[in-house]
Amino acid sequence: MQRFGIDIGGTGMKAAPVDLVTGELAAARARVDTPQPATPERVAAVARHLVEHHDWSGPVGVCMPSVVMHGVVRSAANIDDSWIGVDADALFSDAIGAPVHVLNDADAAGQAEMTWGVGKDRSGVVLCLTFGTGIGSGLFVDGVLVPNTEFGHVELDGADAEVSAAARVRQAEGLSWVEWGDRVNRYLQHVAFIVSPDLIILGGGASKRSDRWLSRVHVECDLAIAALENNAGIAGAALHAPSV
Ligand code: BGC
Repeated sequence: MQRFGIDIGGTGMKAAPVDLVTGELAAARARVDTPQPATPERVAAVARHLVEHHDWSGPVGVCMPSVVMHGVVRSAANIDDSWIGVDADALFSDAIGAPVHVLNDADAAGQAEMTWGVGKDRSGVVLCLTFGTGIGSGLFVDGVLVPNTEFGHVELDGADAEVSAAARVRQAEGLSWVEWGDRVNRYLQHVAFIVSPDLIILGGGASKRSDRWLSRVHVECDLAIAALENNAGIAGAALHAPSV
């Protein structure tokens, strides 16, 4: 069985049909720059284009960098503020002409890891963190998602944590991998203190270069590098597409 997944990021929108048995993409992924400003109408128009590009008809799952409660957007940290209060399920369903469900991007990526990746068959408390433009979090208790946790925005040394430890910050501040790894370590120790996870899954773009910084991280729980990398958001979104 296949479903279509769309991952909306601050800079790019990625989409593909997904095989729900394996979690693999069933066709080559399409990527389009996120329109700027990333207003709901413009993003929905691009989503429609991505679905048409793949000649897809049927349910669609969408993930985005926001708190999304029952399809309604409640925050907009790395996307246009005009999203707040928008019924994203209805907006995308109208634009695409098919049933759509929308969820948070890190919840989607985490769900993909729990289903097909390094979190498969893991019970207990599992925290999946994505390091990219921001820091996203997906929390699972015995495999069940606790949605919209937003651990990227915990306060750390008097500031929003993602301002010091997101992957974007490494480049923006010209940090070495070791310097950035030390910041990630400080952040992970703080989050681990709050949540007491059994396992932390490290995802997002920076996970591909974990050989450069993972040795700086010391936490008292299991650590795993995400297996699905770039496609976790698409696959997890597809998994949450409405069933028909
Ligand atoms: C947002 C989260 C999102 C994360 C990763 C954060 O700034 O608040 O909702 O999951 O970035 O995109």
